[in-house]
Amino acid sequence: MKFFGAAGAVALLLFNTARASILSPRNHDAYDYFAVHLDSSVSPRQVAQMLGARHEGQIGELADHHTFSMPKALGVDLGQTLDDLKLRRRRKRDLSTAGTPVVTDALDGVLWSQKLTLRAPMAKRAPPPLQAFPVEPRRKKKQGQQVGYNATERLIEIASELEIEDPIFHDQWHLFNTAEPGHDLNVTGLWLEGITGKGAISAIVDDGLDMYSNDLKDNYFADGSYDYNDKVDEPRPKAYDDKHGTRCAGEVAAVRNNVCGVGVAYDSKVAGIRILSKPVSDEDEAASINYGYQDNQIYSCSWGPVDDGTTMDAPGILIRKAIVNGVQKGRGGKGSVYVFAAGNGAIHEDNCNFDGYTNSIYSVTVGAIDRDDNHPYYSEWCSAQLVTTYSSGGAGAIQTTDVGLDACSTRHGGTSAAGPLVVGVLALALSVRPELTWRDVQYILMETAIPVHEDESDWQETAIGKKFSHEFGYGKVDAYAVVHAAKNWDLVKPQAWFHSPWLQVHHDIPQGDKGLASTFEITKKMKKKSNLGRLEHVTVTMNVNHTRRGDLSVELRSPSGVVSHLSTTRKNDKLSAGYVDWTFMSVAHWGESGIGEWTVIVKDTKVNSFNGTFIDWQLNLWGEAIDGSIQKLHPLPDEHDHDHDTAVAPVTTTPITASNGANPTATAAPTDHIDRPVNSKPTDSSSDNNDPSKPTDGDTDNPSPSTSDTFLPSFFPTFGVSKRTQVWIYGSLALILIFCSALGIYFLVQRRKRIRNNPRDDYEFEMIEDSEVAHAPVMGVGGRKQRRRGGELYDAFAGESDEELLSGDEEGGRGLSEDDDDDGAEPYRDEEGNDGREKT
Ligand SMILES: *[C@@H]1O[C@H](CO)[C@@H](O)[C@H](O)[C@H]1NC(C)=O
Ligand SMILES: *[C@@H]1O[C@H](CO)[C@@H](O)[C@H](O)[C@H]1NC(C)=O
Ligand SMILES: *[C@@H]1O[C@H](CO)[C@@H](O)[C@H](O)[C@H]1NC(C)=O
Ligand SMILES: *[C@@H]1O[C@H](CO)[C@@H](O)[C@H](O)[C@H]1NC(C)=O
Repeated sequence: MKFFGAAGAVALLLFNTARASILSPRNHDAYDYFAVHLDSSVSPRQVAQMLGARHEGQIGELADHHTFSMPKALGVDLGQTLDDLKLRRRRKRDLSTAGTPVVTDALDGVLWSQKLTLRAPMAKRAPPPLQAFPVEPRRKKKQGQQVGYNATERLIEIASELEIEDPIFHDQWHLFNTAEPGHDLNVTGLWLEGITGKGAISAIVDDGLDMYSNDLKDNYFADGSYDYNDKVDEPRPKAYDDKHGTRCAGEVAAVRNNVCGVGVAYDSKVAGIRILSKPVSDEDEAASINYGYQDNQIYSCSWGPVDDGTTMDAPGILIRKAIVNGVQKGRGGKGSVYVFAAGNGAIHEDNCNFDGYTNSIYSVTVGAIDRDDNHPYYSEWCSAQLVTTYSSGGAGAIQTTDVGLDACSTRHGGTSAAGPLVVGVLALALSVRPELTWRDVQYILMETAIPVHEDESDWQETAIGKKFSHEFGYGKVDAYAVVHAAKNWDLVKPQAWFHSPWLQVHHDIPQGDKGLASTFEITKKMKKKSNLGRLEHVTVTMNVNHTRRGDLSVELRSPSGVVSHLSTTRKNDKLSAGYVDWTFMSVAHWGESGIGEWTVIVKDTKVNSFNGTFIDWQLNLWGEAIDGSIQKLHPLPDEHDHDHDTAVAPVTTTPITASNGANPTATAAPTDHIDRPVNSKPTDSSSDNNDPSKPTDGDTDNPSPSTSDTFLPSFFPTFGVSKRTQVWIYGSLALILIFCSALGIYFLVQRRKRIRNNPRDDYEFEMIEDSEVAHAPVMGVGGRKQRRRGGELYDAFAGESDEELLSGDEEGGRGLSEDDDDDGAEPYRDEEGNDGREKT
């Protein structure tokens, strides 16, 4: 305490008391900033004062998460101190019998911390150049449906009935297509029924929103808007290319008047949240996606990691926490609806499962089709893609509002333009059924989507008789069908889940047309114990070592035979990294029972000198609770999510022929049984609680149900030995823990760097390695542990320069070469846009 006291005294001379203001500007040049997660029993001000830091306020809407700052000039390593405190708390927890640490002073309340740094903002899913690549030659232009009326005349009738006088309405083919009838959102029938979005509110999280545009101002929702780039209330576009957000907003909620066109939900409100125009920290992004989340219902996100076919990035832990916070607490607990654009990297063999936003179970992932109902060259495939809708490609682009008083854009496109159309459709749905939860929305989109090119893509019939394709998801969105399904929709019960233990594989991946399969069987009992009924999302978190990541591909086969291509090869991805705790997602198993054998097949189809090892995986099933009344909310993500290896069920590892042949699971004859209970780290666990009857408190440790009754009913591994031996093992372990912890506290006081490597951990590794060696000499568990220490794992931008991010952005179509998107070429461009705005 002497150390803390001294630092505190110095700092307190310089500062007054903590100031709670998340929205104050940050000065990263002069200060270090830290995000901290504190026990709710301690006062953040007090903790900050004891550390000599300043409490800057809560992070967005994340309860118990705060920002602390420290002037760089003080030369105090607050990060090290916070790390030490986390360890101290852990040790105290280990020592206490109840599993909850003895909180003796406020500093024991530090649960987690992370330094906040500025990084490049996420990349806009900007419209790719129209002519850069030819239309995919695979398919012919698809003619519109035969209709028994003159579509042009019908449109004139509709416009006059609805009193739509917007000058470009007739060019907004995505709303009503006269040239290719049927190739549109099928929305006009809803408008004629009076469903135009009244009462619904969407937020465009982007590069700003021109609230002074005559096409938007009447629908602008100021209370839900904020500028995180400039820390001011009004998210006004400022940079020369801040046009993306305004164009997206116009698609959703452009006003029915005499300017440009109309939005899908033209009587709904739209907020702007500016985040893409300047470097940001995870703190900004986490706060932005919860901003105004009791009012803003839908968050439209047409951005993500760069779509260059080499990037594999997930949101940092603070952002992942905010997303879960949004679906749990937003909209009074019905959940914020996040809509993400699938990504424009298909030409680079990018896949939306390499993007941690689009492959999140909490987001609706939307791909694009063009006005011929074809797949445009840019739109990414993946098993996490729920639906597709219209955007640029082939013969057309999306016409919408632009930055400027009366400016319109004729060239909006990419999956950036597809996402907001679904946002508009969902705004219509929520205007008639505001009580739909975030999962009801996904059900309805899945149920009502219309397959296209049914005989040409990789359509599979799913277990519930729907059709799924990695190219189109469940198909294209039909607004009329969505809203009418929403009207009579029976709300689903709360979400339940099952997390399998970490399944150890540790096997070299054969090259060529063989794959390496590992299976896990889900029993009826496991599902029942988890209160899990019908499935919705399935995620697989895995570790695969490989010296050329792009050579790898992974598929998941469900008990009913539905195949998800979780990952696909990427020619440009040369990274020697493999998959590190990466979570893939699939929506293809929606509605299955999930009972039976699940198989993951890892393939390395490229025969070359680059090779790898399939280390381990975890199967996660998400779905509807059997009994909603006892179901708890899932804990927020935690840095230890991948740390708490639980007892391992028997895994069968076997090379199989990775052909497309039927019934590959049947050929999976076991050649190598790895039947052992493996490692467990008894200390770290928080979010693995499947049993809804038990508390989901972060400190209570409840592992996934194991597959066998021989395991202890807790997170402790049995090491496959008798109870007596277990008692002996744990007894010794406890003594060692006490000793090491005492040692650790000594080091903490001395504030020696060595403290980072808790000797207890080292002991554990040796133990694990011992049991590991006999079966899997290749694996270095210690290596894995080291990778996971410190929480840097999800620092999505570690090692990626701003330059790469920015150049990727340009590659995404911001270049002015072919599709002079921003300047000069557009008939409706308002060159005096900015001046005009200022006059109003
Ligand atoms: C539909 O009506 C428009 C306007 O009245 C007319 O120009 C067009 O030729 C008609 N198309 C067909 C196929 O009859
Ligand atoms: C499209 O909307 C019309 C009403 O305007 C409706 O009759 C039709 O069923 C809708 N299409 C689909 C596929 O639901
Ligand atoms: C990969 O190839 C190298 C060189 O041929 C070999 O030494 C190594 O054992 C291989 N590793 C795996 C995981 O197959
Ligand atoms: C995976 O690769 C890392 C880094 O190349 C290496 O340290 C580790 O031992 C490898 N693990 C396995 C199981 O191959």
